[in-house]
Amino acid sequence: MANDSKPDGISRRDFLRGGAAVGALGSAGLLVGEMAEGKPGPRMEAGVQVFGPGPVPVRLRINGKSYDLELEPRTTLLDALRDKLELTGAKRVCDRGTCGACTVILDGKPVYACSLLAIDVQRQPIETVEGLGRPEKLHPLQAAFVENDSQQCGFCTPGFVMAAKALLDHNPNPNLADVHHGLSGNFCRCGTYAGMRRAVLAAAPLMAGLAEEEPEREDGGEMKDPEAAGSSPPAKAHRQNKKKKKKGRGRRHG
Ligand code: FES
Ligand code: FES
Repeated sequence: MANDSKPDGISRRDFLRGGAAVGALGSAGLLVGEMAEGKPGPRMEAGVQVFGPGPVPVRLRINGKSYDLELEPRTTLLDALRDKLELTGAKRVCDRGTCGACTVILDGKPVYACSLLAIDVQRQPIETVEGLGRPEKLHPLQAAFVENDSQQCGFCTPGFVMAAKALLDHNPNPNLADVHHGLSGNFCRCGTYAGMRRAVLAAAPLMAGLAEEEPEREDGGEMKDPEAAGSSPPAKAHRQNKKKKKKGRGRRHG
């Protein structure tokens, strides 16, 4: 039978609990500092602060606004958004970090909201699709998705839009390969990938403030069909040159 105790007297259960609490420590300072008067604070177990299991105060910064909530520490960011704040743009599909339907931007990076605890992301700014445009004034990415017929059922769309925004925030002039990579964490069961990639390429110069309408690409080609453009001779040559350079570097170090 396995020994459940560690040599220093801490049981495996305590050890695992402690590990979970350490995971939340990124936000612990803020939580303790912001614990409302009269609310129970964290308790110490095995030398670490432990929150819950009941609701604790959690402050989230979403689309530039602060929200004070009472959440069980086990509440995911997706549950907090959808069930507590009625921000239902991020969708729950797989609920296990696979499909990307719940994608939001956390501190500039696209993340799966279903796979993060709300209590762990208190310090970081969160962007959701609700923070982009309004029906009467769409964000350029949203408008490009509409113009490029980039959705069928639309269930995956908000996640793709947020993944695309994170990509364009970091890389204002992506090529098709960059777009493939930027959207690779998101699935679309309806298979509207081609339209979505076209939309991202079309929105890029608008977001960068480089053009008002039909964007011109660096290679002078129109991006009517990004799949074809990605296979165009200049694009191919560029990829081959990149590969050669990589190979060369590998040989020098090999
Ligand atoms: S619902 Fe979060 S990745 Fe699928
Ligand atoms: S448009 Fe239906 S899942 Fe993507």
